[in-house]
Amino acid sequence: MGIEVVVEGLTMSFGKQNIWQDVTLTLPAGEVSVMLGPSGTGKTVFLKSLIGLLKPQKGRVLINGVDMVSSPERDIYETRKLFGLMFQDGALFGSMTLFDNIAFPLREHTRKRESEIRRIVMERIDLVGLLGAEGKLPGEISGGMRKRAGLARALVLDPQIVLCDEPDSGLDPVRTAYLSQLLIDLNARIDATMLIVTHNLDIAATVPDNMGMFFRRNLVTFGPREVLLTSDEPVVTQFLAGRREGPIGMSEEKDAALLAAELDNPAGRPALPRAIVPQLEPSPGLPPRAAVARRRERVLGMLDRLPHAAQAAIRDTYARDAAYTLPQRTRITGSGS
Ligand SMILES: Nc1ncnc2c1ncn2[C@@H]1O[C@H](COP(=O)(O)OP(=O)(O)OP(=O)(O)O)[C@@H](O)[C@H]1O
Ligand SMILES: [Mg+2]
Repeated sequence: MGIEVVVEGLTMSFGKQNIWQDVTLTLPAGEVSVMLGPSGTGKTVFLKSLIGLLKPQKGRVLINGVDMVSSPERDIYETRKLFGLMFQDGALFGSMTLFDNIAFPLREHTRKRESEIRRIVMERIDLVGLLGAEGKLPGEISGGMRKRAGLARALVLDPQIVLCDEPDSGLDPVRTAYLSQLLIDLNARIDATMLIVTHNLDIAATVPDNMGMFFRRNLVTFGPREVLLTSDEPVVTQFLAGRREGPIGMSEEKDAALLAAELDNPAGRPALPRAIVPQLEPSPGLPPRAAVARRRERVLGMLDRLPHAAQAAIRDTYARDAAYTLPQRTRITGSGS
């Protein structure tokens, strides 16, 4: 089962360049979270900080009581084995077959026999739909297949926490839809805590339980998906609508003068009304996601503290589940039906 990841007051700089500051969030155990943000806002740096490969100057990343920032290196090394990582570029070894690439972490980190390795690798290859391609070199397959091979490799050590850095980059829309389903199916099978960094709005809209966004050296928001999806923060609405008008510019941030001019003269497309589409369900035949019930308890417990639009959206989400009735306390604050 997945493990909670608690991030407290994390601040990261490279020399004089501050990347982000005072980042606090919890990745709830077994839930799927998505992190958004313009290029260069430090999303990849954040993932690397979670596994202790980069060391923020301030704050803590707590996993099973180990602080990935400042605990002894051997504890960090042990804890890192709980992670499965899928990098932005797939990061496969070009001279090894897919089989050997995917077997690599097992050969490196375990003393399993070759027959056992074969069983695990073929199971993961099947999981990501690459059966038959195991003998190919990375250069002989498509970019989408390399992505899935990267995901298979991330899964061989039975990770309890899965981090995916832009798993969709370079994929066509259909492959991206398959990938979204694969991520949800994966969560149903292994109940791992998952964090996905993506620029893809379809993944953002259909996959996660929780969403966050980095902008201007800060975590703008992190919480139940409905909070970000109903937010009227200009940076969030601009990002979700993929518009040029708004605080995000080509070099990440527009200067204040340009932004003020734009606000005076809103020439661009109007913001589209955003409907929240249902979250993907695991494919038929798979067990239900164990995180769903936990998430419902958690989110309903915090409902009073969320913005009104998010409360209404969450009530809608759970009203679709006929078997469920809202507790009395939360019904009172409702929009009244
Ligand atoms: N090891 C490093 N040393 C110095 N600066 C770094 C290092 N790693 C990242 N940076 C800087 O940190 C900033 C954030 O980089 P990061 O790769 O995390 O952005 P990102 O949000 O993942 O962007 P993208 O969406 O394009 O992948 C960039 O300005 C980058 O140059
Ligand atoms: Mg990145």
